[in-house]
Amino acid sequence: MKHITCIEDLRALHKRRVPKAFFDYADRGSYAEETLRANRDDLQEIKFRQRILVDVSKRDLSTTILGEPAALPLILAPVGLLGMQHGDGEIHACRAAQAAGIPFTQSTMSICSIEDIAASVEKPFWFQLYVMKDRGFIKALIERAIAARCSALVLTVDLQVIGQRHQDIKNGMTVPPEWSLSKLIDFATKPSWVSGVLRGKRRTFGNLMGHLKGSDDITALSSWINTQFDTTLNWKDVDWIRSIWPGKLILKGILDVEDAEIAAKSGAQALVVSNHGGRQLDGAPSSIEVLPEIVDTVGGQMEVMFDGGIRSGQDLMRALALGAKSCMIGRAYAYGLGAAGQAGVEKAISLIAKELETTMGLCGVNTIAEIDDRVIAV
Ligand code: GLV
Repeated sequence: MKHITCIEDLRALHKRRVPKAFFDYADRGSYAEETLRANRDDLQEIKFRQRILVDVSKRDLSTTILGEPAALPLILAPVGLLGMQHGDGEIHACRAAQAAGIPFTQSTMSICSIEDIAASVEKPFWFQLYVMKDRGFIKALIERAIAARCSALVLTVDLQVIGQRHQDIKNGMTVPPEWSLSKLIDFATKPSWVSGVLRGKRRTFGNLMGHLKGSDDITALSSWINTQFDTTLNWKDVDWIRSIWPGKLILKGILDVEDAEIAAKSGAQALVVSNHGGRQLDGAPSSIEVLPEIVDTVGGQMEVMFDGGIRSGQDLMRALALGAKSCMIGRAYAYGLGAAGQAGVEKAISLIAKELETTMGLCGVNTIAEIDDRVIAV
């Protein structure tokens, strides 16, 4: 992989190696993709102050995330369908995160089940929860995450209804993949993907199949979500989840300062400033635009994490400079997974780590704790 020098290279390889429907599922956003673009554009507008002649020989990326040591302030975000980007994709991504010393978050909408991952990795991982109408199923799902020793629960709060992703509809994206003529032609040019997925443990949603009615064959993901996901979900349900889940709770998908204030009183230890990677409310502000105000308001009461548009160590540094304690990446590692499995995810993490280390050096900073808005040019 020596010719892979940046996340964009992994994206290009992912695009070549994985069927279009699954590449697009990871890559694209909702509606006109305004928020998807704003996440990237607004990050790139932030310029660094170049500082010189500072001894930067002792740069150290290590930090803590919710009290646990981490090799760098980075978390693999929950991403649905990783097992469709690469056979057993969730296991490969989790192993890569653990090898790099950072947390991995398993999505409810995973192909591998919680138990599949727990049996295949060394250390605890985080579990992301979507709340569906069948509360008996949700309670059992949380209990499965407890039994698997998951070390944090990430409750996604911005997907009670799904923002339409035009491209998924145009591609006829289904799980399991349908073997139509046009799909077969696409698959024929991606032989390593086909053999990987065929050798994988599962080809449908491992956390749901056999546990939730109608989940064995989800032909149209968005309409299935619209029938199963609970639109009544509200703050009282956070109390209910708290009563079942004894561990660390993270609320993911907060973009408004008033919501952040309520979150700070909810008993959650952290929130993730996120617009779901521009996949939900199109026209919402970029995550980086709202980050400083949320940090100012609740940063003293809970850990504020960031998610949205990070494709490099420079982007990670920008979000840390504006007050994030740690950041999630989604697409950046999904590209690595589609490109080259576990090695591709490891590559994505190491690229970002190296870029962060270099950027810190050129800004005259040695530790993560030192990164604040003084590294930003105004
Ligand atoms: C689900 O979380 C999605 O964004 O597709």
